[in-house]
Amino acid sequence: MPTIRFVREERDVNCPVGANLREVALKEGIEIYGLKGSLGNCNGCGQCITCFVEVLEEMDDCALSPLTEVEKLKLKRRSKSWRLSCQTLVMESVIVLTKPQSSFKNSHAIIKEAKERDLPV
Ligand code: FES
Repeated sequence: MPTIRFVREERDVNCPVGANLREVALKEGIEIYGLKGSLGNCNGCGQCITCFVEVLEEMDDCALSPLTEVEKLKLKRRSKSWRLSCQTLVMESVIVLTKPQSSFKNSHAIIKEAKERDLPV
């Protein structure tokens, strides 16, 4: 069972193989949206481009489903490490940062610690 390490929230969440990243986050009470997305979003249809996560580390290159056509189009001008959580399926354990466009207190130290801690396979 993969583990998603949500760095900002300092939480590890287990999910079934193939789980939708956005749905797991919402079910666990993890806020995936920034201000714009919380005011209005497409509810996971891949249209609003507000459900970004940054992938900080994957167990291997196949930890997440490949970029969808929607992501290829919508993320053209974004960091290569960003995904739309509503388009992303979790196949293996992964470390992600929600709302990568927003800074947070002690982010460097928290990210460093999250990457150093063992991630369950
Ligand atoms: S929820 Fe709108 S693009 Fe992901």
